[in-house]
Amino acid sequence: MMMKRISLVVIVLCLAVMEFALATSGCARRSASAAGPASKAFGFALVESSGGKQIGAAGAPLPQPLVVQVNDEQGNALTGTEVFFRGPTGVSFDPPSGLTDSSGQLTSTVTLGGMAGRYQLVASTTSKTQKKVELKIEEIALDYQRRLGQLLDDKYCSRCHNPESTPERVSNYDNLEVKPHAFTEGDVLNKMSDADLLSIINHGGPALNKSPLMPPYGYTLSKTEIQALIAYIRMVSDPPYQAPGMVYAQK
Ligand code: HEC
Repeated sequence: MMMKRISLVVIVLCLAVMEFALATSGCARRSASAAGPASKAFGFALVESSGGKQIGAAGAPLPQPLVVQVNDEQGNALTGTEVFFRGPTGVSFDPPSGLTDSSGQLTSTVTLGGMAGRYQLVASTTSKTQKKVELKIEEIALDYQRRLGQLLDDKYCSRCHNPESTPERVSNYDNLEVKPHAFTEGDVLNKMSDADLLSIINHGGPALNKSPLMPPYGYTLSKTEIQALIAYIRMVSDPPYQAPGMVYAQK
């Protein structure tokens, strides 16, 4: 037992020394290859395979991993190309960098920062001509209030407002004579004031001279819950919603 523990300590020490040696030699040779000694191939383009535009909880890993792909000039996937991920303070990637696999892809689990908001992430690789190739990816983190809004949306709204069905929920969208909009459709929803949203959610479509197919929720949901829904709708809209006061403040 004692022997085992000692040998383990020795191995850990050896690894630490090796890592130090690698790090220092990497430093000395940096000018030889900006992408690091690990890259076996150099990419031309970086594309998002999946995992962008997700909505997750602040401070928690996103539901799906982020997958990016490196291609050459002809659009063929490149194996063995080093990709780096970075994001604003508080965001972490597991792994933060690595080599693309046999399908030219690198997968990383992203944990967003503790604050609600939009996070812009960047994946980068180095081209043959030592140029930095970058790909920007956007993710959204929800705080407690907006998480509540998302849960209420799942429970009450998405069966009509989300045209896609899931294994748990069959969408009612196709049956509706008047089509509602997904809450991400900023082009429509950003034009509505908070008062309009409050009014249509509370009293239903007719409150804004719209279809009665939009039911009233003023009896079902509390004020706090409706506020949470509005905060959630504002956070997920694409293009982003800018509160009137904020636009003024930026000028
Ligand atoms: C039974 C289907 C149904 C459900 C459930 C439903 N809606 Fe709607 N909603 C509609 C329809 C239909 C419209 C479009 C009305 C129109 O344009 O005349 C609409 C419109 C809206 C609008 C105006 C923007 C748009 O999409 O045109 C908002 C905001 C809205 N609903 C919020 C909600 C919220 C929040 C919930 C859940 C608490 C919800 N709706 C649940 C059917 C529904």
